[in-house]
Amino acid sequence: MKILGKFPSTRLRRVRNSDWVRRLISENNLSADDLILPIFLTEGKNKKEKIKTMPGIYRYSLDKLSSILDEAEKFKIPMIALFPNTSNHQRDHNGSEALNENNLVCRAIKFIKKKYNKFGVMTDVALDPYTSHGHDGIILNGKIDNDETLKILEKQALLQASVGSDVVAPSDMMDGRIGIIRKALDKKKLKDTQILSYAVKYASSFYGPFRDAIGSKQKLKGDKKTYQMDMRNYTESLREVGLDIKEGADFVMVKPGMPYLDIISQIKQNFKIPVFSYQVSGEYSMIVNSIKNKSLNENVVYESLISLKRAGSNAIVTYFALDIVKKINKY
Ligand code: PBG
Repeated sequence: MKILGKFPSTRLRRVRNSDWVRRLISENNLSADDLILPIFLTEGKNKKEKIKTMPGIYRYSLDKLSSILDEAEKFKIPMIALFPNTSNHQRDHNGSEALNENNLVCRAIKFIKKKYNKFGVMTDVALDPYTSHGHDGIILNGKIDNDETLKILEKQALLQASVGSDVVAPSDMMDGRIGIIRKALDKKKLKDTQILSYAVKYASSFYGPFRDAIGSKQKLKGDKKTYQMDMRNYTESLREVGLDIKEGADFVMVKPGMPYLDIISQIKQNFKIPVFSYQVSGEYSMIVNSIKNKSLNENVVYESLISLKRAGSNAIVTYFALDIVKKINKY
């Protein structure tokens, strides 16, 4: 790209001089349309539990869910994402609770689809909320077995779709899962169910608070490096996305967000598919705690989100979704 112009005939400060011209030439904007709100679920009644490592975020029992859903609807959030905290006694080696048609997520989907129709419902396809060991897949001979896991993921995605999930979002990083899920959905006449692939999910320590929230942290033995991506790699992310598009993904996700802006940007430039990013729990905690202890002011929330947009995200999964949408007109 050739940069034209020369000082003093060209002065870039001229177009920064007032709010109206800055608004006029802004290249990116953040609106409610860009936001996906994650919601944590818990069993029981009358519960709105604090999550220690995520100040301001709660786990809701189903009878308390309307408080946050009403807000999502009022502020025109286009999609919510559900994450269950499954009790210890419902977890086992193979995560079989994932296939219980009356599990927490399924009950939540049914409840939400009956009462709300203004936003989409997205559900995670992975076994970690349900396994006693906190991994996303089936362990066979001490290893996470890809193909055995696929059999369960296929059923889990079908179950979620059949009770009303609009967007199934495999976050497990097994090879081949998008194709298998797409085929299974089509066979069951669920051709309109969308697939958001967590195509580029790095093995990141920024997921720590989330594992707290869904109750997997203490259980997780080892790390997820045999299935989630190596943080040192970039070209591998293009291979992941290419494969998932071929297999039938409708959108792809990069995760975490801010430490991987380069990846978001490259995926956006290399593929013509909507790219989402996930500002994950650790990013949220870092920002919220810095605001709480007054090291940073709250404008960093907007700045962090606009950076994800500028990098190329069509939409962002963020725990700040409701907070920011209430303040957005200020910027
Ligand atoms: C589970 C899953 C994780 C997140 C979303 N789905 C955690 C993990 O892979 O350990 C992380 C989200 C966050 O940190 O906010 N498959």
